[in-house]
Parts: sequence; C-alpha cells; structure tokens
Amino acid sequence: MKFFIDTANLAQIKEANDLGILDGVTTNPSLMAKEGIKGNDAVMQHYKDICNIVDGDISAEVVSTDFETMIEEGKKFAAIHKNIVVKVPIIKEGIKAIKWFSDNGIRTNCTLIFSAGQAILAAKAGATYVSPFLGRLDDIGSDGMELVHQLRQIFDMQGYKTEILAASIRSPLHIIKCAEAGADVCTCPLDSILGLLKHPLTDSGLAKFLEDAKKFA
Ligand code: E4P
Repeated sequence: MKFFIDTANLAQIKEANDLGILDGVTTNPSLMAKEGIKGNDAVMQHYKDICNIVDGDISAEVVSTDFETMIEEGKKFAAIHKNIVVKVPIIKEGIKAIKWFSDNGIRTNCTLIFSAGQAILAAKAGATYVSPFLGRLDDIGSDGMELVHQLRQIFDMQGYKTEILAASIRSPLHIIKCAEAGADVCTCPLDSILGLLKHPLTDSGLAKFLEDAKKFA
C-alpha cells in the first residue's frame, strides 16, 4: 500500500517525506485555504513547491463544475509537473472531464466517492485513482471501510486498473484497516502516520535497553 500525505502544509509534507516512506500528496480546496493560499499564481506556486519536495503523485483539485473549465484548469495543473494528478469531483461533468483527461494522457483522481456506483463510473471513464472518503462515511453512521472492501472486490473482479485511494483518514487504525482491505493507496494526515509508530511497550522496552546499555558503556 502506498502512503500519501493529506495536507497542503509544506512543513508537514517535508516531515513525512523525510521519513522516506512517502509516495505522494493529496490536497483539496479546504486544505489549500487552511494554508492561507490566495489567488491563482499562489495556488500554482504552491503545487510547484509541493512537487519540489515530494517525488510522487501530487493531486491538484479543480474548483469548477463545468466540463470546459475543468479541462482548462486541469491542463494548467498538468503543465506544472509530470507528477501532477488532476483531482475531479464525481459529478456528471466530472466524468466527462475524466474521460477527456484519460484520452489525452492526463492522470486523474476522482474525489468525493461515497458509493460503489460512483467508483465504477469513475473507473469506466479511466480515472487513475478513485478516492472513497472513509471518515466522512463513518461520521454519518455508515461503514467507510466496507466501501473499500467492496471496491477491492469489484475492481479485482472487473480487472479495473484504477487504483483505490482511501481518503478522509482519521486514525492509525484506519490506515491498518485500509491495508487489510487491500487499498492501493492511503492518504493520511501526518498525525495518523506518526500514530502508527506508537506503542507503550516500545517506549518502556527502549527505556530499559538504554538504561542497561549504560552498564557496558
Ligand atoms: C483527500 O483526497 C480528501 O480530500 C481528504 O482526505 C478529505 O478528508 P476529510 O474528510 O478529513 O476532510
């Protein structure tokens, strides 16, 4: 399973990248706004900065909802760097845009996926990734992880090449469950990635080893 970081914060992206385990980055308009990025030039520069930190797929999300403007936005994003993946919402115009991008050699991440039907359409249109939003499904009393299991089964059975990019991750346990469910990618906040490291027996075991090491230092 590939690890992407789900943030537009450059310091966090660098911290995750320095671990040596990072395969890519996902952003969305809310994450970009959180960083105080304003205006087209600043947005483009921010994606360039991310591409300069991480050598992996970087999702840049369109903010239009009609086919023509999505294509214009996506072409501009794709021109920034070969690693840019254009993130497109699962709406009617979005499906048309994904098909166009796919036919024209531009990779896509179909976002805001909450059902198997949406993911099937995105895969049929040629999306490189589909992003099921697990946490947001959990938030409304659905089982987000069940959707990942369902997509894995369908995509394997149908031979879809589209990768399942589990998104809206809220905890280290989500990451482990995504690995069990066969997600191709998990995009996670930095805290959830670092949370995977934590175990009290590791802390107490290391403290004892370091204490004992003093005896033969
Ligand atoms: C990433 O591609 C998604 O936009 C993101 O994971 C959504 O996460 P949230 O539900 O925590 O906002």
